[in-house]
Amino acid sequence: MSGLFVTLEGPEGAGKSTNREYLAERLRAHGVEVVLTREPGGTPLAERIRELLLAPSAEPMCEDAELLLVFAARAQHLAQVIRPALARDAVVLCDRFTDATYAYQGGGRGLGAERIARLETFVQGELRPDLTLVFDLPVEVGLSRAAARGRLDRFEQEGLAFFQAVRDAYLARARACPGRYRVLDAGQPLSGVQQALDALLPELLERIRG
Ligand SMILES: Nc1ncnc2c1ncn2[C@@H]1O[C@H](COP(=O)(O)OP(=O)(O)O)[C@@H](O)[C@H]1O
Ligand SMILES: [Mg+2]
Repeated sequence: MSGLFVTLEGPEGAGKSTNREYLAERLRAHGVEVVLTREPGGTPLAERIRELLLAPSAEPMCEDAELLLVFAARAQHLAQVIRPALARDAVVLCDRFTDATYAYQGGGRGLGAERIARLETFVQGELRPDLTLVFDLPVEVGLSRAAARGRLDRFEQEGLAFFQAVRDAYLARARACPGRYRVLDAGQPLSGVQQALDALLPELLERIRG
């Protein structure tokens, strides 16, 4: 596979969707084939699993069921969308991927990294993102942006401690593997975030063409 697999990570309201569109536009202006997708979801079946994961429900979802649903959706998404796109040399911009599992299920739910790492290898084999953009911002800022969007999903209903653990897990992963991650200050005005993405563009184009 020789496309480029870029993931966008961060909590609700960090600006992943907004900036994914921006980055796609910039890359397309350079003639690059860009596939925009997201997790959980990205295929009709995986989107149905997403609905199961996000819908508040009277029956509490046990942590293992949540974790396995996330990876079930991911297996489908990889088979239907991500691997085929990379095989034809496209750039995949994916809104959340396995780093989100480490952050939400590993950090937020407290499942730890070991079991997630085993499932990661089981489902993905060797495949990992080439580059992961972490949209980092204070927990309160992200939550207030997400709340402004309307009804809260099953994750958005969690408390501050959950989201603090999510943020910490993202930052710890970025620190542990600085080559693969870029941490962006997503708390600044959107124009500043987009300037940071512009600064990243030459490196991205070089990697796509190299
Ligand atoms: N840097 C920013 N400053 C202020 N508002 C922002 C910024 N980035 C995104 N937003 C706004 O915050 C909300 C959530 O952004 P969105 O891109 O949907 O985040 P995410 O996909 O990470 O949940 C949107 O209303 C968006 O316009
Ligand atoms: Mg979004």
